[in-house]
Amino acid sequence: MTSHVPVEGHAASGSKPTPPATLVIFGAGGDLTKRLLMPALYNLAGSHLLDDTTTIWGVDHGDGSDETWRRSLSDTMESFTKDETAEFHAQHIDPTAWGFVRDRLHYLKGDFLAPETYHAIAETISGNAVFYLAVAARFFAPIVEHLGQAGLLTQSDDAFRRVVIEKPFGSDLASAQALNKRLLAVADESQLYRIDHFLGKETVQSILAIRFANGMFEPIWRRDFVDHVQITAAETIGVEERGAFYEPTGALRDMVPNHLFQLLCMTAMEPPVSFDAEAVRTEKAKLVQALRPVQPQEAVRGQYRAGTEQGRAVPSYRDEPHVAEESRTETYAALKLTIDNWRWGGVPFYLRTGKRMIGRRTEIAVHFKPAPYRLFRDTPVDQIAPNILRIMVDPVQGMSTEFNAKVPGPSMRLGAVRSTFREGDFFAQEPNVGYETLLYDCLRGDATLFQRADTIEASWAVVDPLVRAWGAGGEPEPYGAGSAGPNAADDLLARDGRRWLPLDGE
Ligand code: BG6
Repeated sequence: MTSHVPVEGHAASGSKPTPPATLVIFGAGGDLTKRLLMPALYNLAGSHLLDDTTTIWGVDHGDGSDETWRRSLSDTMESFTKDETAEFHAQHIDPTAWGFVRDRLHYLKGDFLAPETYHAIAETISGNAVFYLAVAARFFAPIVEHLGQAGLLTQSDDAFRRVVIEKPFGSDLASAQALNKRLLAVADESQLYRIDHFLGKETVQSILAIRFANGMFEPIWRRDFVDHVQITAAETIGVEERGAFYEPTGALRDMVPNHLFQLLCMTAMEPPVSFDAEAVRTEKAKLVQALRPVQPQEAVRGQYRAGTEQGRAVPSYRDEPHVAEESRTETYAALKLTIDNWRWGGVPFYLRTGKRMIGRRTEIAVHFKPAPYRLFRDTPVDQIAPNILRIMVDPVQGMSTEFNAKVPGPSMRLGAVRSTFREGDFFAQEPNVGYETLLYDCLRGDATLFQRADTIEASWAVVDPLVRAWGAGGEPEPYGAGSAGPNAADDLLARDGRRWLPLDGE
């Protein structure tokens, strides 16, 4: 994993540059390349983390040349300075850092399914190479098979060959297994870097630091002290222009076995014996294998109807572009997970994710059990707030703890207080789109933050009963856009005498 030594103004000081390599991006003309990969490469170049001989090839089916590709990406980078809502937003584009990337860009027009494309690539590259599949999921297996057939995945002592595969990795257990089988027929597991961009988020990586670099959290991080855990990824945006992708996908597949399970793994896995990739990934795999498959009665699905977002009227999901009028696709999913292991036996983990919610919030909230007896008997019970430790991932990055303190005054009265650590208050913040670490780690051969085949399949196995049940019929519960989600999600926790944390406010 990248070691970030926070030094004023240069987050990456102390890190070594990548080895010489060619990066081949399939899907050069796509959204991911423009919005995330180029800003990530630009940030790496700005931190002097890319080897001077780095070469970047973009492959796509559209017409183009080195010059047109360079120009169009330069324009896009420039446009980010005017768009404060873009994932990457900077006041200005540093000409030296962008020039470094731009001068190394080359374009190859090619059909992903035609052997000639791969012959052309084989003629152009030698030595180390990373093939980045920024393409629709249906191309993953064919591209890797073509790479294999063209001999492009054959490694030698002085040439590594790696493949980065984007999400979604399968759409259920059977398809994930089939995809792994096809990939592993031509590549070794150690060559496959399955991306989950949540693992590129600083705070997600920092969960391991919080847990394992401190002596005060881990002793209470277990069933004796923890009542339950809530993991939330709530978005205020709707499905936007992605209806065609989202309709067959839905919130469960889009977010749960991948992003939310990554947050869960970081929170609940056992301490690894080292930060070696296999040690970390083995602990994650063990955690996912300890999850009980979720049954439909332990889960809720919802779909947003018309409502308001920040005072603006927004349409119902069914009226979004490329969405069926009678769509049954869920835009919200909540579930209760049970972990069958010694540390977490009897501690429910509640997960929820949704679009068009009242607040944007990605966080993990660990709720602790109350103090063992009520010393403050005369204090009204509802004034004794539960102890909650929140790890905040988005939009604020940091951590807070909530506890009870005495309200100043002559009588003993309790008041709930919160102590908050915000990363920006302590560390220099660099514009970061999350893909910097992932690209850097892949080029350096560190697979810690990438998904192994066994964990992906075990994750799908956990949600498979839901995938099947929801696919078989029934309707998601409606909820108003700009609300906290469907009522049934509240009932899911109310049955256990618990409540979701509010999504609005601090
Ligand atoms: C993507 C999903 O993987 O993650 C999107 O396909 C979702 O639907 C996004 O909006 C959320 O990521 P982030 O980084 O914006 O929280």
